[in-house]
Amino acid sequence: MKHWRIEQMDWDCFDPARVDPDIVRLVKAASVVERNGVDYALYLNNVFFDDPAFREAADNWAIEEVQHGDALGRWAMLADPSWDYPQAFERYRASYKLELEVDRSIRGSRTGELIARCMVETGTSSFYTALADATDEPLLKAICRQIAADEYRHFKLFYDHMHRYLKRENLGVWQRTRIALGRVTESEDDELASAYHTTNEPAGVPYDHGRCIAAYMARAMRYYQPRHTQRVSGMILKTIGIAPHGWVHQLVARGVYHLIRIRQRKFARQAALA
Ligand SMILES: [Fe+2]
Ligand SMILES: [Fe+2]
Repeated sequence: MKHWRIEQMDWDCFDPARVDPDIVRLVKAASVVERNGVDYALYLNNVFFDDPAFREAADNWAIEEVQHGDALGRWAMLADPSWDYPQAFERYRASYKLELEVDRSIRGSRTGELIARCMVETGTSSFYTALADATDEPLLKAICRQIAADEYRHFKLFYDHMHRYLKRENLGVWQRTRIALGRVTESEDDELASAYHTTNEPAGVPYDHGRCIAAYMARAMRYYQPRHTQRVSGMILKTIGIAPHGWVHQLVARGVYHLIRIRQRKFARQAALA
């Protein structure tokens, strides 16, 4: 079911001279979050317990997310041969756990769950596109392009299922907006911060959320260009039920771009102080 395979990538084209150490830090953190997709599939299977078609789609989705983690982890081990991806993943698993034993979505409805998933895929597809555009390292560029294409397909998958549930649950634009923005702001919670900590900081260093989210976000947000936020805003507008064209889209795209710039500068200042 996968659209590409790790073995198909040209691993011999890796060029250590073109590796950016800041990007290595991001790739290490991203690799363990991606691999944790298996846990999220268990959660989705519980939320959608009586929807076999969606459960099957969620299981296939998780296989692709795990492959993202494995490809990024393998690349990061080439970039930093002292780093151990399986060991880092075990450390991450021990430090960050999702609540899996549920019988309903933490978003209040199945539509809400799928809106949150659309937001995550919006974030990942734009992040890997921005990273592919930012890096000069040919192997990472190729990996990020493959992953970004998967993430966009994932967005479409969750978006289509969302529309199926929307007919039943009938959430209005305002409710959809609230859930979507709620999930976007959650990206500054523990998931990415603890991934940064467990993949980049030595085992003896105590976890500090503020320090780690600043270190991660200051780097991750640096690579967003206007064309990436244009895409992000289109996907957000679609998810909340507003047609993504015309002046509204342009306005939102500009707003998202400036917000990212402001947040990036704030996190960079915090990271410098730490
Ligand atoms: Fe992914
Ligand atoms: Fe994805």
